Amino acid sequence: MQINISKAQQFIAADALEALAPQVKAAQEALEQGTCQGNDFLGWLHLPSSITPEFIDEINATAKVLQENCEAVVVAGIGGSYLGARMVIDALSNSFSWLQPSNMPRILFAGNNIGEDYLTELIGYLKTVKFGVINISKSGTTTETAITFRLLKKMCEDQRGKEEAKKVIVAVTDAKKGAARTTADKEGYKSFIIPDNVGGRFSVLTPVGLLPIAVAGYDIASLVKGAQDMEAQCDVNAPADQNPAAVYAAVRNAIYQTGKKIEIICNYQPKLHNLGEWWKQLYGESEGKDGKGIFPAAVDLTTDLHSMGQWIQDGERTIFETVVSVENPNTCLEVPSDEENLDGLNFLAGKRIDQVNKMAELGTQLAHVDGGVPNIKISIEKLDEYNIGQLIYFFEKACGISGLILGVNPFNQPGVEAYKKNMFALLNKPGYEAESAAIQAKLG
Ligand code: PA5
Repeated sequence: MQINISKAQQFIAADALEALAPQVKAAQEALEQGTCQGNDFLGWLHLPSSITPEFIDEINATAKVLQENCEAVVVAGIGGSYLGARMVIDALSNSFSWLQPSNMPRILFAGNNIGEDYLTELIGYLKTVKFGVINISKSGTTTETAITFRLLKKMCEDQRGKEEAKKVIVAVTDAKKGAARTTADKEGYKSFIIPDNVGGRFSVLTPVGLLPIAVAGYDIASLVKGAQDMEAQCDVNAPADQNPAAVYAAVRNAIYQTGKKIEIICNYQPKLHNLGEWWKQLYGESEGKDGKGIFPAAVDLTTDLHSMGQWIQDGERTIFETVVSVENPNTCLEVPSDEENLDGLNFLAGKRIDQVNKMAELGTQLAHVDGGVPNIKISIEKLDEYNIGQLIYFFEKACGISGLILGVNPFNQPGVEAYKKNMFALLNKPGYEAESAAIQAKLG
């Protein structure tokens, strides 16, 4: 993985990064020594290097049971309890896998919304296949996931009988607390623990992400190896300019300090759409607090050049871009020659599709930089488990450093509670009587 900030530096003062260097160093040391805000949630920091081959084997063994007994596996989870798995699985999967026969179970995601049609349609499909469930919730009480799991548990038991269902329902949750733990223990489900000191959005390298990724048939040992290598590269003692997480954290803060408050993550591979979703949660929940924080947005290019491209090129100059670029596709396809050349495309004949994509990427970078949009480029060699593992740790480490430079606690999310309180009050949840009365007064 490489980071190139040359097209961002022209937008910041010549000494901006040097001026930030002490804060970058202090942030890294505070993470390392556990002296920063949110220091009870630093379990992700050396998580990759703590993962043992035996642990990977245990996850793979559980994945095998689900693979052998299920045509589909529903991953029930929301936020950090699903976005990482979805990002990795999408990045590695054939774009049309849902149209092709496969000996691996189809991975479906639910518990991340309260759409009645979504759940009804999911249930409609599940009636036609043998399915299993991975119920993922750290708190074990999140409403979206809990409602979904209640529906799926009943359906799975109706389909297979209670005893058989136990084989294909797995819980990933807290060691002791929460309804998901109570149910798993009472029913005797296989379960994995989400460590106390790893927050949801930093949990993709725990069983939260590793189990669904393994069930989908991907090599989690290689994913973890990529993360381990990046952990070493981003070591606190590495020279700052050779530590990509430190570089990214510094440059995005330097740009933010010039008044550019929106960062758009861009990809040129449709399979990376959910990288943007995972990254938005990681940075949005970590930094958007105390009236501060870069707003994280995402676009898929070149697709969105035909929608958001106008705004990015020409709208309010409050944005900067971080492009995740994949150097080599995993396949090879050329533009064919055509005798009649009715479409005028013979100038591209014999060129690889990726060559066209790369020129679109370069042309867009030059245009956006000319249009006043700083550009950070992050390149990976190809889309595979190892490179994705590197990206995961890189973004996590940079997020921790960046949030501390900003002066917030990157590891809490107090703002997420506000909607829950109102929703519970409106639904008359026991214990929310006072809130309910206050809301009724507000609504008139
Ligand atoms: O990052 C976070 O902490 C959150 O996004 C959580 O992952 C999300 O709210 C789901 O919580 P839980 O795993 O407790 O169901």
